[in-house]
Amino acid sequence: MGIEQNDFIPALKSDVRLKPMNGYALAHGYHPSLIRMIDPSHAFFLALCNGTFRPAEIAYLYGETFGLDADDADYQASRLLDQHRMFLDFGGEPGEAVRFSPQDFLFPGDKGKIDGAAYGKWPVPAGINVTLTFKCNFNCSYCYQDLLQTGDNRWDLGKCRELVEEAADWGVVFLGLTGGEPTIFKGWLELIEAGLKRGMIPTMTSNGTVIGSDPEIAQRLAAAGMEEITISFDAPSAELHDEITRSKGQFPKVLNAVRYLVDAGLRVVIKSVLTPRTQHSVEPMIDMLVTMGVHEIGISFMEGGAIESGANAADNVSMDELRIVRDRVQAKRELYAGTCDIHPPKDAEKVWKDGDWYPCGGINMGMSIFPTGDVSVCDKMHGVKDFTYGNVFDRGLEAIWNGEAFADLRERTVQPDLIDPDCAKCSKLYQCRTSCFVDAYNATGKYLAKDPHCGGPFFD
Ligand SMILES: C[S@@+](CC[C@H](N)C(=O)[O-])C[C@H]1O[C@@H](n2cnc3c(N)ncnc32)[C@H](O)[C@@H]1O
Ligand code: SF4
Ligand code: SF4
Repeated sequence: MGIEQNDFIPALKSDVRLKPMNGYALAHGYHPSLIRMIDPSHAFFLALCNGTFRPAEIAYLYGETFGLDADDADYQASRLLDQHRMFLDFGGEPGEAVRFSPQDFLFPGDKGKIDGAAYGKWPVPAGINVTLTFKCNFNCSYCYQDLLQTGDNRWDLGKCRELVEEAADWGVVFLGLTGGEPTIFKGWLELIEAGLKRGMIPTMTSNGTVIGSDPEIAQRLAAAGMEEITISFDAPSAELHDEITRSKGQFPKVLNAVRYLVDAGLRVVIKSVLTPRTQHSVEPMIDMLVTMGVHEIGISFMEGGAIESGANAADNVSMDELRIVRDRVQAKRELYAGTCDIHPPKDAEKVWKDGDWYPCGGINMGMSIFPTGDVSVCDKMHGVKDFTYGNVFDRGLEAIWNGEAFADLRERTVQPDLIDPDCAKCSKLYQCRTSCFVDAYNATGKYLAKDPHCGGPFFD
């Protein structure tokens, strides 16, 4: 079909942003999982998808700008619409506001950098993930963090602010704050404000106790431009909440946190971990949360965690129980479609096939930084020496990312004699790098074993 027959109006999805970088551009949504390094000319094209032009008009503008003949311009436009469809809506009416200026992307792409990303090497990480504190005021039975870790706590707000500025100057998009409970770190709110002021996207999951103690916190987050926050919520009653979190009397604060955030206009995402004790109360919990106006609810299957974490010893639901919960959550998903986006737990037995391969990507595009200043691949890996590749009290983020220790670590993740033979022959190895080191360790005792969720090797 020729592009002139495409009678629709492509528009960038409302939560998608484009960002010019040095030799490439970024297209991304609100989550680090949806970020792509693209050629600046593709970003130029996407900026033209502003809900005003039809495909033939976009093809014309694109072709005139890059000196293509009409057929080639049509062909390229069809290809780009298909290649970047995850960022686009196709049903728009003309007249949406122009959000990104195509001229901002008229600079040459650096093919080496862009191809490097396809091999899992990002010039600048998409996000940094800062563990603000190892401490938590809860002690959830299922928690994947090693809550006993203390390390040498060297953080203070000043150092964290420096990191945020450094990351923003470097072009990092996402600022993840985690813990322990991030909101018990003095100054967490200032860090979010600082990140937002510098155009970063802060992401944070909290147990809600601090946010639910003072309605002004939610107001301040909204005023600073925070769009979304995730609250952990596992039970619809105070009794069960106390039991799961092994704390006392905090449930009203968690409810308040949800109320205050919804009232302040933030998009509230609920993350809920399924356990044998909570599996029967998932339906009333969803009803309650939808009534409170949350925007999204993800029910997750309990994963294994850091060495010494409670999750590794906690009882999990059986596969049969998981199936039953999944069906029930699916029914709620259908019931509340259009009101709240509800995600049933994943099938824990399903392994990746070619079409649904979903590696972690942390080693390619993220840095996890601990209160000790150590930088590692993942926030579950504090103290794992082989995966620690720098310390922010010794060197800057950029020097650590481009340093020898990280290059060595990356090299180890593709060394045929160190990794699983399946991974060694897999065509996705350089992007995957055997994927989740922690899950592999929990399953086999080896960090560089094949990810237990993988049905590979793949050959494409
Ligand atoms: C480790 S917590 C840190 C942030 C904060 N303390 C909280 O609970 O929201 C981050 C998220 O991981 C989830 N989580 C903890 N242990 C888990 C496990 N074993 N499997 C899946 N998710 C888990 C928590 O419920 C929470 O939503
Ligand atoms: S899941 Fe969060 S709130 Fe619960 S113990 Fe772990 S860090 Fe604390
Ligand atoms: S076989 Fe190994 S490298 Fe290939 S996709 Fe699976 S985990 Fe990744």
